[in-house]
Amino acid sequence: MTTGSILFLPGDGIGPEVMAVVRRVIDFLGSKGLSFELQEDLVGGAALDAHGEPITDSVLAKAQAVDAVMFGAVGVHKYDTNPFHLKPEQAILKLRKQLELFANLRPAIVFDALVEASTLKPELVRGLDILILRELTGGVYFGEPRGIEDLGAGQKRGVDTQVYTTAEIERIARVGFELARKRGNSVTSVEKANVMHTGVLWRQVVTELHAREYADVQLSHMYADNCAMQLIRRPKQFDVIVTDNLFGDILSDAAAMATGSLGMLPSAALGAPDATTGKRKAMYEPIHGSAPDIAGKDMANPIAALMSFAMLLKYSFDRDAEASLIEAAIADVLNEGYRTADIAQDGMTTVGTAEMGTKILTALTKRST
Ligand code: IPM
Ligand code: MG
Repeated sequence: MTTGSILFLPGDGIGPEVMAVVRRVIDFLGSKGLSFELQEDLVGGAALDAHGEPITDSVLAKAQAVDAVMFGAVGVHKYDTNPFHLKPEQAILKLRKQLELFANLRPAIVFDALVEASTLKPELVRGLDILILRELTGGVYFGEPRGIEDLGAGQKRGVDTQVYTTAEIERIARVGFELARKRGNSVTSVEKANVMHTGVLWRQVVTELHAREYADVQLSHMYADNCAMQLIRRPKQFDVIVTDNLFGDILSDAAAMATGSLGMLPSAALGAPDATTGKRKAMYEPIHGSAPDIAGKDMANPIAALMSFAMLLKYSFDRDAEASLIEAAIADVLNEGYRTADIAQDGMTTVGTAEMGTKILTALTKRST
C-alpha cells in the first residue's frame, strides 16, 4: 500500500538537480514505511527538445490523475525568443490553468541561522513568518483580449487584460481567511483600488465576505505599491497577504529576499476541494526558476524544493509530522553552518547541491533514530 501518487516534473536548468535531492528524501521516507507511487515526465525546454511542445496532453492528463505534482523549474535561453505558446513557461501556466490551481501559497520564513544572510537588517527579519497567498489562475496572466496587433506603418499595439469576477475573488479570499485563522489571524488584502476597476471590485468582495463569514479575522487593505515598500520596511507587520496573480508574482519575489535567497522559498498551488472526495488538486514548486547560469554546476540550493515537498506532505497527504521533520532537518544543517553558494556566509562551509542533500539526509536519519 502506498500513501498516494506523485508526478515528478523536474524540468530544466537546476530543476533536475534540486529534484534529485527531493528523490533521496522520498527514498528515505520509503525506508521508514511512507512510500509513494512515483511517475516522472518532461516539461519545459526538456519537453520542447523531445516533443516540440512545452508540455504534452499526456503529461497534463497524468497531472490531473495523481494526488500531487512535484515541479522543478522550467526555462532555457535557447527558447527565450519562441512565441508564447512555445515557451517553456507555458508548461507551468497550462498546469495551473488546466488543474485550476487558483490558490498559490508562498510562505516566507526566516530560519534563525540565516538572519545574517538577508539583505535586510537582522532585527527586521528575525522570526519572520509570513504567507503570501497569490491568486493563480486569473488576472492579467490569462485575461482576454491579449496579443500584439499590427497597426501598420511600423506601429504595433500590445494588449493584456486584467480581469476578475466576484467568484474568483471570493474563493481566493476565503482561502486567505481560513489560513489566517490557523496562523496569526490577520489578512492584508492587496490591490490597486486607487487606479484599477479590478482593485475596486477586489476590495469590495473581500470586505463583504469578511463581514459575512470571517469577522473574527483581522482584515486590512493595502495598495500594492505600498505593500512592496512595507515588505522591505517592516515585513513582520504581515501575517497573510492575499493578492492577485501579477501583484503576487512580484511581491513574493520581494518577500523572498527577506529570507536570504530565492533558493529558500517553497510554494504550493491548490485547487478547490473535490465535491465528493474533499481532495484538492495540487502542485508544489520552488519559486526560484531554472537559473541557467548555474545549471549543471552542482551549486543550486535544494532547500526551496525540499520545503515544497514538505508542503506536499502537509497539504496533499496530511503528513504534518514528516513535513516538520524535514523542516527541522534543514534547520539542523543550517545551524551546523552548511550553506549553498546563494546563502554563503563568512565562517560557514559552502557546499554543493548534492552535498547539501547528503547533510540533510544525515540530519533526517539522526532525528528519526
Ligand atoms: C513564478 C514565476 C512564473 C510566473 C513564470 C515562470 C511564468 O515567475 O512562479 O513566480 O510569472 O508566475
Ligand atoms: Mg515569479
